[in-house]
Amino acid sequence: MAKRTVVKMPGDGIGKTVLPEAIRVLDAVGFKADYVHADIGWDCWINDGNPLPQATLDLLQQHKLGLFGAITSKPKKEAAKELRPELQDKGYVYYSPIVGLRQKFNLDVCIRPCRSFPGNPLNFVRQAPGGGVDEPRVDAVIFRQNTEGLYAGLEWTNPPEQVRAALATHAKFKAFESVPSEEIAISTRVFTRNACRRIVEAAFKYAKRHGYPSVTICEKPNVLRETSGMMEEMAKEVHADYSDIQLWSTNIDAQMMWLTKNPEDYSVIVAGNMFGDIVSDAFAGLVGGLGFACSANIGDEVAVFEPTHGSAPKYEKLDPPIVNPIAMVLSAAMMLDHVGDTDKAEAIRNAIAAVVEEGRVRSYDMMRISGGPESISKGAASTTQITDAIIARLG
Ligand code: IPM
Ligand code: MG
Repeated sequence: MAKRTVVKMPGDGIGKTVLPEAIRVLDAVGFKADYVHADIGWDCWINDGNPLPQATLDLLQQHKLGLFGAITSKPKKEAAKELRPELQDKGYVYYSPIVGLRQKFNLDVCIRPCRSFPGNPLNFVRQAPGGGVDEPRVDAVIFRQNTEGLYAGLEWTNPPEQVRAALATHAKFKAFESVPSEEIAISTRVFTRNACRRIVEAAFKYAKRHGYPSVTICEKPNVLRETSGMMEEMAKEVHADYSDIQLWSTNIDAQMMWLTKNPEDYSVIVAGNMFGDIVSDAFAGLVGGLGFACSANIGDEVAVFEPTHGSAPKYEKLDPPIVNPIAMVLSAAMMLDHVGDTDKAEAIRNAIAAVVEEGRVRSYDMMRISGGPESISKGAASTTQITDAIIARLG
C-alpha cells in the first residue's frame, strides 16, 4: 500500500502527550506513513487570534488524513481576556477549532464506538435479579451529525431587527413580543434533508457491514417536530433499502434513562449534533469514560480522528505522564479502518483488549484513584507504560 502522509495536530494539554503514543502504536503495527505537524488550539488563539490557522487547513486539504489530540475551549469573554495585549479589543471572537474543522471540510459523519473491553474495572455494572452484579456487554456505535443543528453557529444575543421580524412571522413568537431584544438570546437548530440522509445512510451501511441488528434514531420528534421530525422521516426513507435491519426510535431523555437499564440492547444509534454529543458521552461512561472514548470525523474528502476527551491541562506537565492513551490509540485504529487497513486496526484493538483483560498495566482512572504525581507510587502505570504494553501485545 502507498505510503500516506498524516497531519498530526496535537493541540493543547494532554493532546501533546497522547498523540505521539498513538503514532508509536501505528509504527509498531506496521502502518507506513509520514507525519507532518500542524498547529491548532489555544496558543494559536492567544498569539494570532485564530485557533485554526490557514496553514493547518492547507495541510489537511493536501493530505486528507488528520490525527487530532485535544484542545482547550473557553467561553467567549474568558477567551478574549487571554489574547495577547496587541490583539485585545480588536473584535477577535473565539470559536472551537475542532467544530470549525468539522464544518470547514464538511466532516459531517461522526462515528463514536462505545464498546466495553472485558475486564475493564470501569465497565458499567447493575444489580442482577437474583443478587450480585451483572455486567452487560456494551457495543453501541453512535453516529452523530457533525456539522449542523445547534452547532451551526447561527445565534444571537440581542438579535438584529430583521431576525426579530423573521421570527415574528411565526405564531409562537407572540409569547416573546414584549421582551426587549437585549433580553433575548437565540441559538437556532438547523437540520437539512441532505445532512440527515447522509448520517442515516452512513449508519445503516455500517450496521449492515458489521452485522448489527438495529439502528436507533435518538432525537425528540414529539417536541422538536421539524428538525427531529426530519431526521425520523429520512430514517424511514433510507430504511426501505435495509429491510433486514430494524429501525428503532427513542427520545433523547428516555434514552438517557434506558442507558443504565438495558444498554446491551442498543447497537447503532443516530442523533443530531447536540444530542449526538450527549448520547456519545453517556455511552462512553458505560465503557470506561473518556480514557476509552474514540471518534472519527469523516467527510467526502478529508477525515480527522480524535479522542473525545478534553485537554486536561492539569495533567499536561506531570512527569512521567499518567493519562490514559487508549482513547487516542483507538482513534488511530479508526483511521486504519478508514484507509482500509482493517487487519492492523483489529490487531490494535485486540492488543488493547488483551492488556485490559490481563489487568497488570492500568492507568490511574482504571484503578479508581485520583490522578496526580502520586498515582505512579500507588501502582498506576504511566502513559508510556500503557503504550508499551499495547505494543508488546500486537500479534
Ligand atoms: C466533542 C466535544 C466538542 C463538541 C467540544 C470540545 C466543542 O464535546 O467532541 O464531543 O461539543 O463537539
Ligand atoms: Mg462532547
